[in-house]
Amino acid sequence: MNNRRVLVTGGAGYIGSHTVVELIGAGYEVVIVDNFSNSDASSLEGIAKITGVTPTFIEADCCDKAALREVFERYDFSSVIHFAAYKAVGESVAMPTKYYHNNLLSFINVVELMKEYHRPNIVFSSSATVYGDAEELPVTERTPRKPATSPYGNTKQMAEDMLRDIVTVDDELYGIALRYFNPIGAHPSALIGELPRGIPNNLVPYITQTAAGVRECLSIFGDDYPTPDGSCLRDYIDIVDLARAHVVAIERMVAGKCEEHYEIFNIGTGSPVSVFELVKGFEAANNLTLNYKVAARRPGDVTAVWADTTRANEVLGWRAERKLDDTLRAAWAWECHVRNR
Ligand code: UD1
Repeated sequence: MNNRRVLVTGGAGYIGSHTVVELIGAGYEVVIVDNFSNSDASSLEGIAKITGVTPTFIEADCCDKAALREVFERYDFSSVIHFAAYKAVGESVAMPTKYYHNNLLSFINVVELMKEYHRPNIVFSSSATVYGDAEELPVTERTPRKPATSPYGNTKQMAEDMLRDIVTVDDELYGIALRYFNPIGAHPSALIGELPRGIPNNLVPYITQTAAGVRECLSIFGDDYPTPDGSCLRDYIDIVDLARAHVVAIERMVAGKCEEHYEIFNIGTGSPVSVFELVKGFEAANNLTLNYKVAARRPGDVTAVWADTTRANEVLGWRAERKLDDTLRAAWAWECHVRNR
């Protein structure tokens, strides 16, 4: 079995493409499966330009088990990183079936094929959304999860539970769930980054599009939260740091270092940053002023969530390294690249 080759589902997407770059940099061969449902071929070109390597790419939907089976038949790999999923919270509330179908069926197909083809390792993209409105901050991996407030969040919880149940009764299989906090930024080369379709839901793409004049004005959703400046607190993690966490997780698995068949790690910086701080930081890092206003709270937002990263630091051996102003410069450089191409 080839321990140096990794199947990356959703590898053309935002987190996937940055992870592919880091995997290649660490000497792995990568096979990408993506259906371009929320990405396009430009990320593959970016990966090739950055690394000098064109990864194997198969355009397929992970819900199509026959197509996915062909990938398992054809390529030998010991590990899978499963990114392929829908991720828009609001859309998931409006179209729950779409989310349950895509996110859960693709996950089940991947795991069933891993079992059938004796491929032992999977890293699953989970989210800090599983903590909901936590009673204690920062959250550790032992902090109880809260009932999901959206079908999207529920698919993350359900897939975590399925993964735990499946790998704990199987001698062969190992699963690591990485709970991402708020991934932001772009590769320093500005050749890959986030490509939101339509109006961005997330803060940083909205900021960069406002700075670029694509959006007129950023709305800050609430300045009356019980936080020092009244805006929400989040843990913004640089996308390259986040991508590196996947490489470290894969190394842990292929080296046989997992202590349990199912492991969870928080992937964040450990530092809370408010929406106002992020906006001011973006302005200062890029030497520009942003058009923004305070608006009503966004339904479903939690006041504050940030990571206790002790376990990721000490057990996984990973920590966030990039400085927030460098991340915000990279986010702006990427937006400029997108607008100029
Ligand atoms: C959101 C999702 C989360 C998902 C993650 C994926 C919700 C409630 N949560 O996290 O489940 O895993 O994206 O990336 O949607 N903000 C503004 N103005 C904007 C946009 C955002 O003020 O135009 C504020 C929000 O109120 C929040 C912060 O910025 O306080 C971060 O928002 P966002 O980037 O959407 O991330 P989350 O809501 O934390």
